[in-house]
Amino acid sequence: MRDDSTTGNAWDELPIRDELRGQSPYGAPQLDVPVRLNTNENPYPLPEALVDRIAERVREAARDLNRYPDRDAVELRTELARYLTRTAGHEVGPAGVWAANGSNEVLQQLLQTFGGPGRTAIGFEPSYSMHALIARGTGTGWLSGPRNEDFTIDVAAAREMIAEQRPDVVFITSPNNPTGTAVDARTVLDLYEAAQAAKPSMVVVDEAYGEFSHHPSLLPLIEGRPHLVLSRTMSKAFGAAGLRLGYLAADPAVVDAVQLVRLPYHLSSITQATALAALEHTDTLLGYVAQLKSERDRLVDELRALGFQVTESDANFVQFGRFADSRTAWQRILDQGVLVRDNGVPGWLRVSAGTPAENDAFLDAARTLVTENAKKEHEA
Ligand SMILES: Cc1ncc(COP(=O)(O)O)c(C=O)c1O
Repeated sequence: MRDDSTTGNAWDELPIRDELRGQSPYGAPQLDVPVRLNTNENPYPLPEALVDRIAERVREAARDLNRYPDRDAVELRTELARYLTRTAGHEVGPAGVWAANGSNEVLQQLLQTFGGPGRTAIGFEPSYSMHALIARGTGTGWLSGPRNEDFTIDVAAAREMIAEQRPDVVFITSPNNPTGTAVDARTVLDLYEAAQAAKPSMVVVDEAYGEFSHHPSLLPLIEGRPHLVLSRTMSKAFGAAGLRLGYLAADPAVVDAVQLVRLPYHLSSITQATALAALEHTDTLLGYVAQLKSERDRLVDELRALGFQVTESDANFVQFGRFADSRTAWQRILDQGVLVRDNGVPGWLRVSAGTPAENDAFLDAARTLVTENAKKEHEA
């Protein structure tokens, strides 16, 4: 891709939609450094036995590549439903599950169906910036909702805003990215109630990091709530960001509704075969999740011991600060060979939990930062 950062946008002269003009595409800087802890990826490569199983499944699928894939991905949706039923505390069937190329595509399909021109969506920022970007891409208006100092959602103010603005889609991200904050069931129910009284609107719970949480999944809340959707991904817990497989669970009517906008045969046979192979290895992959959760907790404890403020984390990453100038702190950590993320939340940075060795390297860099700062203060 061209780097247009110094030359202005190459598309400035094209007749693009007015609302896209002057905007920047989504993207974390990918720098070639020894330790990259900036994109919330799972640091563990897939186990060899799973790689072999993927090769086997893909080989089988390859024999039929002259045919379009199963348009409805029935086998995959059945296995995803089985996985949710087993791990997320609520029985769902394939009719209530839908899959697409990453949860980004799931979210896009939801906004194409329930948002769009003349409609609005609300998210509680700071949060996953793609919610606003997908809203923009689908012509949906965007509203930024209120959070408290500790990054929990300000429920009273949020209810008021929903009643006033009557958004068509409400995004609740739990655990939230970039803060790591989990949302409790009571908050989801309060916001759902407010959204139903106002419109009624769709409430989308983005649980991309659900498997890393100290709390149970919010999936059981979909029971009896036809406008509540839970979005999940295989990118994080399954260590399969390269696969591009996200899914939703909701009332079957929601799954029927997104059929109106999904592209025919959107999920390739190769993707379906690979995801099915990964689901066969669920237990091994959830073992890595358990290791990452304990590494995440170690990062929280050690950063606090070093004197940093750390936001409670239920995800595979940790938000830490506070910095007078987070950009400078980011650069000084980078100078030591560790790439973390500056999400633009003033005073805070985010680090993804890596392997124990990667986390040690990051903690060493954080320790050096503290020592340097203490030295500077002493000299001043
Ligand atoms: C909160 C949240 N939702 C969704 C996604 C998208 O995940 P994917 O499209 O890889 O499933 C991410 C990725 O970082 C995320 O942080």
